Amino acid sequence: MIIAVDGPAGSGKSTISKLVAKELNLLYIDTGAMYRAVTFMWLQTQLLGRPYLEEKLITDNDVRKAIKKEILYKHHEKALQIICDNIKIKLETSDSGLKTFLNDIDISEYIRTTLVTQNVSHIASYKEVRTFLVDEQRRISQGTNVILDGRDIGTVVFPFADYKFFLTASIEVRAKRRLEDMKKTGEEISLEELCADLKRRDHLDSTREEAPLLKAHDALEINTDNFTIDEVKNQILNIVRSN
Ligand code: CDP
Repeated sequence: MIIAVDGPAGSGKSTISKLVAKELNLLYIDTGAMYRAVTFMWLQTQLLGRPYLEEKLITDNDVRKAIKKEILYKHHEKALQIICDNIKIKLETSDSGLKTFLNDIDISEYIRTTLVTQNVSHIASYKEVRTFLVDEQRRISQGTNVILDGRDIGTVVFPFADYKFFLTASIEVRAKRRLEDMKKTGEEISLEELCADLKRRDHLDSTREEAPLLKAHDALEINTDNFTIDEVKNQILNIVRSN
């Protein structure tokens, strides 16, 4: 069984998907974490973002030099292709939450930083990155019952998914939810800044050429503004269980 959950940032996708996965014993794939992992690698090759882990993430000196050379000449597509050819992303569900590994290094805490969030929609717009990650998402899902959340699951990754949901919420509600998430990580950011970042990402994600954020024609749209997490989860569970 494949369940696709798409929608903009802060619509509740990952929270709901995790709970549905637990309830139905499905594998949960947070595809946003995968785009964030590639973005983190990209920033590291440019000496941006703490900690500086580039040498640990890609141990081959020649590969690192090749990426840097392409970045220097602003051949971003080529640089990203080399990155994709040399990384292995692994998602793991543990008691302390979802963990993201890049070439076996745990980068879970770094992929949620503001720097990664600010750059991820740009990196996610490159065809090289999308082709690589869509292939990975299909590979990991093979032969298992799975729920994936993202922007293009019901439209591109699994157009024939068994169930498709498109979660939405107003910008105000989404920004407030994000603010609560950020408080837990200790990063300081205002509601206004968060609103601006969400709007900017919504715009980039919806207008890009490759696999834009779009409701699949056969997806069920759920506006989560006035529902609790449990209510949305139960709506989804009722639909899946009644079929
Ligand atoms: O959690 P949040 O909604 O902030 O974002 P995310 O799910 O971690 O995804 C981060 C970014 O990755 C999105 O803003 C998109 O630019 C990109 N993304 C994508 O293009 N396609 C996906 N299937 C998942 C994420």
